[in-house]
Amino acid sequence: MGSGCRKQSSLSRNTTATNINFKWPVERVITVDSTRLGVSTIITNLNVPWEITWGPDNQIWCTEQDGTISKINPVTGEKKVLVKITDVYRKRLGLLSMALHPNMKKWPYVFVNYTYLKGEVIFSKLVRYTYSHEALTQPKILLEFPAYYGHMGSRVVIASDGKIMWATGDGAEATNAQDTNLLSGKVLRLNIDGTIPADNPVKGSPVWASGFRVPQGMVYNPNGMLYIAEHGDATDDEVNIIQKGHNYGWPQVQGFVDLPEEKAYHTAHTITEPLKAWTPTIAPAGMDFYSKNSIPELQNSLLLTTLKESDLRVLQLNKEGTAVVSEKILLDQQYGRLRDVCVSPAGDVYVSTSNRDWNPGPGFPQPTDDRIIRIFKITDKDKLNLATAPQNFVTATPANSVSEAALPAGQVVYQQYCASCHKADGNGVAGTFPSLRSSGKVSGEPKDLIPFILKGSSGSKKTEGSESQMPAFHFLNDQQLAEVVTYIRSEFGNIKSGTTAAQVAEARSLK
Ligand code: HEC
Repeated sequence: MGSGCRKQSSLSRNTTATNINFKWPVERVITVDSTRLGVSTIITNLNVPWEITWGPDNQIWCTEQDGTISKINPVTGEKKVLVKITDVYRKRLGLLSMALHPNMKKWPYVFVNYTYLKGEVIFSKLVRYTYSHEALTQPKILLEFPAYYGHMGSRVVIASDGKIMWATGDGAEATNAQDTNLLSGKVLRLNIDGTIPADNPVKGSPVWASGFRVPQGMVYNPNGMLYIAEHGDATDDEVNIIQKGHNYGWPQVQGFVDLPEEKAYHTAHTITEPLKAWTPTIAPAGMDFYSKNSIPELQNSLLLTTLKESDLRVLQLNKEGTAVVSEKILLDQQYGRLRDVCVSPAGDVYVSTSNRDWNPGPGFPQPTDDRIIRIFKITDKDKLNLATAPQNFVTATPANSVSEAALPAGQVVYQQYCASCHKADGNGVAGTFPSLRSSGKVSGEPKDLIPFILKGSSGSKKTEGSESQMPAFHFLNDQQLAEVVTYIRSEFGNIKSGTTAAQVAEARSLK
């Protein structure tokens, strides 16, 4: 993703991939309106690719969380390692985002962000490498700050004015995001030598915008508008347009300014609302902008990969780029978690999976994960190829058409709001999200369990075996909460007596 995909197109016109014969078998066919798209895998056995971006040499430049930066040839699938960064601290995170300078002939710079250990403390740093002779050398730290192994974002892009834009996560301390003295939970802006631009909102500070939780998608459209996608907590994943000096609200405002507390905060601080917010959450990751002619149905859209929902969202924008007018879903749960996307000058879309990360979904990782897939318009020429390839016709799914009518109500609530952490089978993720199967809270009294789910665990002591916090679910209504409590007690605690909406209402009224 990132501006790299678009920016480099001018350098590479002489060798766009349109006339090249790709050898990859077509694994799936997706029909979007009148266009048929083919899906092929171009490389497997990657180790959690975080960034894929199109280079001026028509190669896909790729970071893997273990510290590897490589170039992948989309035609041959050949991978050439440019550097293996050795001081990456790989716990949950590691090497994350990367941006290539849009004018690499003049400025042969590659900017990367990763976590490392400075003494005993985890730091997140932005490092500039110099590219020459098929290698990245001369690392120079441009900026760093104390970090964490979760919630670090991140994404880096280069603006058309040559400035570095770096989106950072809140480091799992929500209050960081509103503290403009801290660099976590922000969009930061720097010159390419790491100095602070004179026209930043606050003199001497890299902070360009504040109030973010976990931004993982960032891209400019051709008109220079900057979009960001970020993870909400239990509700409200967001896509925002980033403007100089604006505050995007986390943690006081989640999604739109609609609750009484949020309205009060907005009155005092002026919060910028998102273009779009998702509840239940989808876990949005990398994002790119589609402005090519090749696939007309994708034009003027943000392409957004998701982890939890494991799909590719096409967010079509209005002409001004200020509103999402439609949302389509491609690749619905077919390749597992999707982390990043980039568009080639010829208009092909490349997507990378993230099934070897710390939180894989059911059935993943598959033996050859992770992979990069190519989505392209099928032309007459490709039909030959298709006739011999296994076919799997899939239609683009309209958003929110989840086929869950057959499931019990409590299971639907559980799938939408709980399974991303505690997993469909209730076993959780060792060391991070507790199992609900052996939980005394689940098999104990509803009058203790309900308030816990309403309030979450923020502020309370963490349970043994968990390293993060349970979000508050007070926004679910009494009926939904009663259903999910009934479901987890029956399914994971083997207690068959149901919980009623009246019991939830009572627990709520006790505060
Ligand atoms: C973002 C991840 C996340 C989501 C989503 C989530 N939980 Fe949790 N949950 C946690 C974490 C982390 C803990 C441990 C909290 C602690 O110990 O501080 C926890 C603890 C619990 C516990 C107590 C387990 C024990 O034995 O201590 C229950 C019960 C529970 N969650 C139920 C739910 C239900 C029901 C939902 C959906 C409505 C849900 N959780 C959604 C992360 C999550």
